[in-house]
Amino acid sequence: MFELADSNASSINFLAIANALQSQGYAIIPHALPVDIETSLIKHAVQLSEKQMKQAAIGRNQNETTNKFVRQDKIVWIKEGSAAEKAWLAQMSLLREQLNRQLFLGLFSYESHFACYPEGAFYKKHLDAFKGQANRILSTVYYLNPNWQPEDGGELVIYDPADNNKILTQVSPQAGTMVVFLSEEFPHEVLAAKRTRYSIAGWFRLNTSVKGQIDPPK
Ligand code: OGA
Ligand code: MN
Repeated sequence: MFELADSNASSINFLAIANALQSQGYAIIPHALPVDIETSLIKHAVQLSEKQMKQAAIGRNQNETTNKFVRQDKIVWIKEGSAAEKAWLAQMSLLREQLNRQLFLGLFSYESHFACYPEGAFYKKHLDAFKGQANRILSTVYYLNPNWQPEDGGELVIYDPADNNKILTQVSPQAGTMVVFLSEEFPHEVLAAKRTRYSIAGWFRLNTSVKGQIDPPK
């Protein structure tokens, strides 16, 4: 497995992410973003009120359908609202351009949301995209929990695409850690968190526009 070095103060370590994706299909990057961006995103997530965080829906086109047996996080989609959100989207746009340059992925858009897992919440094993739909290509998760301890649970578990009962790795949702993985390949789950757990989940997508109409991300 690749051990990625911390990024420098100003930007994501793009090359390390591209190399890890190419060789193993996923990348785990501690301290992925400049610390001022990390800090403002933590503040923003914590300030989002319960009302704004709506119960996450499972799948698309199911109009607010929720299934508490599968996932229990609450989400708020990110728009160019606050300075923190703008900085986040700018970083992810740079990442998209660099990955396209280095891996010829043709990533077109990026959608992301804040997620809050209240105490006890989990997200059962799932895939973020289904083969053949060529829609969500790369998944990203960025964690916003300072001083997360092993006893706080809430780990991201990534399973082997060839044997979805075999654990490849487990990631602590420590503030500043980013995980990037191929959406169609890796089953993953979030273990029950024993304290409130904040993150940003996001997806790079291909351009699936038809007849000159841009396919909206959500
Ligand atoms: C998701 C997801 C992982 C995490 O939102 O689809 O898998 O660690 N999140 O929060
Ligand atoms: Mn997922």
